[in-house]
Parts: sequence; C-alpha cells; structure tokens
Amino acid sequence: MEAILEVSGVGKNFGGFTALSDVTLSVAPGERLGLIGPNGSGKTTLINCISGALFNDGGSIRFNGSEISRRSAHQRTRLGISRSFQIPQPFRSMTVEDNLLVPLAYVGGMSGSSARKEAGRILEQMGLAAKSDMLSSQLSQVELRKMELARAMAARPKLLISDEAMAGLAGAEVDEVLEILFELNSLGITIIMIEHIMQAVMKFSQRVICLDAGQIICEGTPQEIFNNPEVQRAYLGD
Ligand SMILES: Nc1ncnc2c1ncn2[C@@H]1O[C@H](COP(=O)(O)OP(=O)(O)OP(=O)(O)O)[C@@H](O)[C@H]1O
Ligand SMILES: [Mg+2]
Repeated sequence: MEAILEVSGVGKNFGGFTALSDVTLSVAPGERLGLIGPNGSGKTTLINCISGALFNDGGSIRFNGSEISRRSAHQRTRLGISRSFQIPQPFRSMTVEDNLLVPLAYVGGMSGSSARKEAGRILEQMGLAAKSDMLSSQLSQVELRKMELARAMAARPKLLISDEAMAGLAGAEVDEVLEILFELNSLGITIIMIEHIMQAVMKFSQRVICLDAGQIICEGTPQEIFNNPEVQRAYLGD
C-alpha cells in the first residue's frame, strides 16, 4: 500500500546546529509507529517539520502522495495532519468544551450546535464528557493530556502525532491514554507516538524508529529496538 507519510532526506538546522540530518522514513496508512530517542535527539523538531510548525531545510515531505513541505501548518492540518503538544497549551480560562470549539471553528469551520455536538462526541471518545463544563485550569494532569489529544482530534486527522502525551503520568493513567490511542487507531487513524515511557512504546507500536542526535539510528519491531545495542548506547551514553 502507498505510504500516507513519506519523509525523505529531511534536515533542519538552527544556526550552526544540526537538529535533523538526512531523516528518511515512511508511515503506512493505519500504522502505529513509535518514535523514540534521548532528550534533544530531534523528535519534536521532526514533528514540527511534518506538521508545519517549522520548515525543513532540505529533503521532502509527502503526505498522501503530495509534497507538503512548503505548505503552512494550517494547510497541513486541513489535509489531515494533527499533533498534540509536548507542553499542553490549553486556554486556561475556558471550559473544556470551549477549548474544543476553538479548533472546531478554526479548522472545521464548525459553529453553533453542530460544533457543540462534535465537541461532545470527541470528549466522549476521550472519556472527558463529564468534564465538559469545567475550566481547563481545574483539570488533573491526565485530563489535561486527554484534552490536548481531544483538541488534536477536533481537526479530524488522518494522521495523529502524539508528542509525549503520557509524560508525567502514573502507570494506570498511562494505560488510559494508551487505550484512547488504540481506540483512535482502530477507527483508522494513523498514529505516530513519541514517548519516553518504554513500556508504552513497546505495547503500542507495530514498528519503532529511534533518533539520536538528529539521525535515525535504527528501525524495527519494539523487541528489536529494545534489544538494539546502539539504542541502548544512545540512551545510556558511552
Ligand atoms: N527553535 C529552536 N531553536 C534552536 N534550537 C532548537 C529549537 N528547537 C529545538 N532545538 C534544539 O534542537 C535539538 C532537538 O530538540 P527537540 O526538541 O527536537 O528534541 P526532542 O527529541 O524532542 O527532545 P525531548 O525528548 O527532550 O522532547 C535540541 O538540541 C534543541 O535544543
Ligand atoms: Mg520533544
């Protein structure tokens, strides 16, 4: 099957610093891909280049067969790429529902009762229906993470990129978020999961890619990656 996402030879420099170098990967429709790598290895930068928050310096990024690397983030969202942020950026003085109405209006052009109905559907999916009228500033950490995913889902993505949606969560909460990601995947959404929690990566991913210092150092099944000496070296240092 043709890849939904094809990243070829992508680089990204910040001044003289090379954050990404010659990154090539492809993602199949419906796939659950894990993206790992030590702090500062370039995971978020890669996601920023794919989603359009940053422009890559070289190489190409194709989504559903079309080159997107010079399109705006907004255009890419409309094409079906949506991401959650490593550091949640909720509108704290708004309710959970209103937090969803913003992207529903902005991306989906939805308003009024149809938008509220859609917000309700997504919140139900995330197990947040009961929190709909709460201020987002009152949410617990795990609820905030779920709302962050809900906001990404408001764009009705074909490809959802989750950037450390489980950071800072306890064991049972990690499983709750995993459950949601599995559920979304079962609905046909392709998912790239960036995660430091190795157990979650192992459970979730059909395939794992490991970045180190801006380069892909290996790719394989979760078991292969877990046992790979280069990956262990990248995480533990020499
Ligand atoms: N806008 C920027 N300007 C300058 N340097 C940046 C910028 N964004 C990222 N970097 C640098 O690029 C490198 C990769 O950062 P990135 O955030 O992509 O890493 P990461 O793999 O997501 O790390 P973490 O696991 O800590 O989230 C780091 O050295 C970082 O300091
Ligand atoms: Mg990051």
